[in-house]
Amino acid sequence: MTDTTERTARIDDLLARMTTKQKVGQLIQYFYFSLPAGAGEGIDPFISRQPQAVEAALAEGVVGSLLFVTDPAETNRLQKLAIEGNEHGIPLLFGFDVIHGLRTIFPVPIALAASWDADTIERAQTVAAREARAVGIHWAFAPMVDIARDARWGRIIEGAGEDPLLGSVVAAAQVRGFQGEELGASEHIVAGPKHFAGYGAALGGRDYDEVDLSDQEFWNTCLPPFKAAIDAGAGNIMSAYMDLNGVPASGNHWLLTEVLRDALGFEGFVVTDANAAKDLETHHFAADAADAAVRALNAGVDMEMGIFQPAFANLIEAIDDGRVDTARVDEAVRRILVVKEKLGLFEQPYVDEADARRVLADPAHRDEAQRAAERSAVLLRNEGGILPLDPDSLGSVAVIGPLATSQRDTLGPWVFDFDLGETVTIAEGIATRLAGKASVVVEQGVAEPKRTFPSMFEQFGDTSPSAPADFDADAALDRAVRAATDADVAIVVLGEQQDMIGENASRSDLSLPGDQQRLLEAVVATGTRVVLVLMNGRPLDIRWAAENVPGILDVWYPGTRGGSAVASLLFGDTAPAGKLPFTWPRTVGQVPIHHAITRSHAPQNQDKRYWNEESTPLFPFGHGLGYTSFEYAEVRVDAERVGLDGTVTVSVDVANTGDRDGVEVVQLYLHQRFGTSSRPLRQLAAFERVEIAAGQTETVAFRIGPDERRYWSAATRDWVLDATVFDVWVGGDANAQAHAEFTVG
Ligand code: NOJ
Repeated sequence: MTDTTERTARIDDLLARMTTKQKVGQLIQYFYFSLPAGAGEGIDPFISRQPQAVEAALAEGVVGSLLFVTDPAETNRLQKLAIEGNEHGIPLLFGFDVIHGLRTIFPVPIALAASWDADTIERAQTVAAREARAVGIHWAFAPMVDIARDARWGRIIEGAGEDPLLGSVVAAAQVRGFQGEELGASEHIVAGPKHFAGYGAALGGRDYDEVDLSDQEFWNTCLPPFKAAIDAGAGNIMSAYMDLNGVPASGNHWLLTEVLRDALGFEGFVVTDANAAKDLETHHFAADAADAAVRALNAGVDMEMGIFQPAFANLIEAIDDGRVDTARVDEAVRRILVVKEKLGLFEQPYVDEADARRVLADPAHRDEAQRAAERSAVLLRNEGGILPLDPDSLGSVAVIGPLATSQRDTLGPWVFDFDLGETVTIAEGIATRLAGKASVVVEQGVAEPKRTFPSMFEQFGDTSPSAPADFDADAALDRAVRAATDADVAIVVLGEQQDMIGENASRSDLSLPGDQQRLLEAVVATGTRVVLVLMNGRPLDIRWAAENVPGILDVWYPGTRGGSAVASLLFGDTAPAGKLPFTWPRTVGQVPIHHAITRSHAPQNQDKRYWNEESTPLFPFGHGLGYTSFEYAEVRVDAERVGLDGTVTVSVDVANTGDRDGVEVVQLYLHQRFGTSSRPLRQLAAFERVEIAAGQTETVAFRIGPDERRYWSAATRDWVLDATVFDVWVGGDANAQAHAEFTVG
């Protein structure tokens, strides 16, 4: 056991006075659901019995935290029950999945990552924290910092993609946004990076399934974003569901104590994922729920997120019979009380409901969401400069596709407290932008695609729209084709519905679901100019579109003001500057795929590892176009050779060769030619987002020192810094061409 917890007089005093039952109560977090109107039949009976059971536990003073309450009147009411339920007046901590906004919905996390813009990401989570705190939420189960390289895994949408450096920058920015200057800052909440650790490598992309991760992947790829989040001060960590190399993550002492505490220096509290303590029995790891509780706690879990009948209730007996050490229990309780104290909850446990209403309605939050959506979009293709469209030269525009008019899909998954009334769909955004200029015809074209198996959120009434039973597919397609034929340009909005991506939303193929491909081909066949707007949280198989549709703009799930942002991008009021945070495969058969692969036997055909198809991606990691063009000059390195702990400065002149101001994310890729391990052919080692005025040149400089070169080697089972030769490329994506080299040692 490593005691890294803080001591305060108040907490010492509380610990001395609390009963064992009260202490154990602090270690339990309950789901608390007020079921929304319209919640479907077949609701989980456990969940519908929750409120009464939880309120009884609150009255007994044996609850540490609740999740899923977002109404300020309710947080106040439940808080009062809790405080009055224990003679010490210990307040509750309210946690929630504040993933990409609370009332104001921002683009989904993978979209925010595509901005490669730490400032935008920090600002987004600052707004999310402000709204959450106003309603009485103290803690976000976010950011999800799991690296994901398999697009079949639905949760790729919740992270920052494939790369540990980008993932680290995004993770730290989110923690700063949620928590502010320090844990306890006003209008801020605790950040809970998740899921520790390795969850993104689920076998076959199947959510929750086991993960077998090599040590070098673990240290070099999976851990850096967690480290960055911890270094940024994250107050909480959530342990993962799955087996990591045969040991459940939530019962793994090595992982939760030796790695998390000793190696990464984490000092906050650890919560399990929902039911993950009880799951230790499901995993055939723990003998029963009591054993599960003991093993989770002893591994390093401080709080159980329990849906019903928490396993941790068994700890009282386990303390009595010595299976659990009281010191370990006190340590966990202390960590939780420290957070409550830092948040000021002992002094001010309640929120002001009128103030909450004001904060939730703040128009500045919507403006931030629009700005973030504009910065997140990635222009994948722009043949012949079809984009931006000139609004003054268009007489008529057809907006086509099942996702163009869906408010719910505009917001994306992992939102619960949204306001559909103010959500701007893409069709609405375009119509508003073109009002008084061009006529806009909107056609759905095909029925909304549907999941084969229902989403886990369906029982709570949260689903994407479905086609009515009498939907006439032929007539809908005909109308769409006619609209496209009559229009100057057809904007086709396709992708996955929001319930097709996220938790419990893995897929075995990446095609456009339903009849969308057919619709796209029919619209293109009219000969009208076509722009494809993609709504997605994972790369989709768009091989046909990448050859046949001149303009492709990936807008992800852009949030409350999504439609306005998309219109401003399409019509050139602002220019896209996002870059892909993952390698975009041609087909599902290529996944997992990512840019940082090593060179191997027969490198002459490393691009043709399949006999039927290129093994290169459709779009490289880091790809994204804008409305101007950039040219990279020679790369300069300030020293040909440096010592092992030396630093070189790599610089490059980037010219904006177009006639429009633009933003470029300048990326530096590194390759180590030889050493203790084989190292990736290219690996992102630095990047900077730079604004370059039309016709101007900017010099961008990067420092490459030991931190950028150090890696964990399976040969020495330790971190190494090699004396070797490095190649360096700088450019606008992972295929960067401008090259230089330097020697170390
Ligand atoms: C399960 C998910 O894995 C986790 O990310 C989420 O925070 C919890 N449920 C609570 O909703």
